[in-house]
Amino acid sequence: MSRIPLIAGNWKMNGLVADATALAQGIAAKAKAAPALGCQLLICPPFPLLGVAATAVAGSPVAVGGQDCHAKVSGAHTGDTSASLLKDVGCSYVILGHSERRTDHAETDSQVKAKAEAALAAGLVAIVCIGETLAQRDAGQTIEVNTSQLRGSLPAGANAENTVIAYEPVWAIGTGRVATPDQAQEVHAAIRAELIKLIGADEAGKMRILYGGSMKPDNAAQLIALPDVDGGLIGGASLKVDDFWAIAQAAG
Ligand code: PGA
Repeated sequence: MSRIPLIAGNWKMNGLVADATALAQGIAAKAKAAPALGCQLLICPPFPLLGVAATAVAGSPVAVGGQDCHAKVSGAHTGDTSASLLKDVGCSYVILGHSERRTDHAETDSQVKAKAEAALAAGLVAIVCIGETLAQRDAGQTIEVNTSQLRGSLPAGANAENTVIAYEPVWAIGTGRVATPDQAQEVHAAIRAELIKLIGADEAGKMRILYGGSMKPDNAAQLIALPDVDGGLIGGASLKVDDFWAIAQAAG
């Protein structure tokens, strides 16, 4: 089953207007100069930089995404952003249920699911993040934790076109401690097996499952080459044009 890898940069709470513009323009320029690149590129800046990023990548194959959205379409939700506004300012994707959101904002699986359903309704692709903590891994709960989060967070109506899964072991995020290929493949295969039960073999076979957690230029190729790894959700290394581009080349 051939799946086009997705290389997604999660900028988190980094960047000001000038460096975000330069970063987005730098990635867009590389992408325009490499029309045969075999992967899809995505950058996910903080909310106030979305318009700047969308302008910077216009006319290039680089897509723009948000890092969260609200489950409601509009209303009295101070500080929140709707999926339809993300779409309106040029986004085509949104990251949902990142472990930092689950930790910092106590987001639950059912909230992530509701947000993902709002994203789909607005015409965005939802990138649904799941992953175990180190304590859960050490307790032998890795597969159970991930399949349970997947069941609880997957939006109704999910298919391979509108939903991407990101497996991000919490212990690997921003730590420099990357999952081994065996660890990554084991969980990705378990996620795909669970997806088969949830959405059927056809859609599960086509759905992209990204790995995230200290993906860097020097480890990306062997992770992305794994049978059930279909790209990466990249934090730190997405903040430098050359590092992000090297990962894109490893995928494409
Ligand atoms: P990292 O972050 O690449 O800096 O580990 C990945 C993520 O949290 O999406």
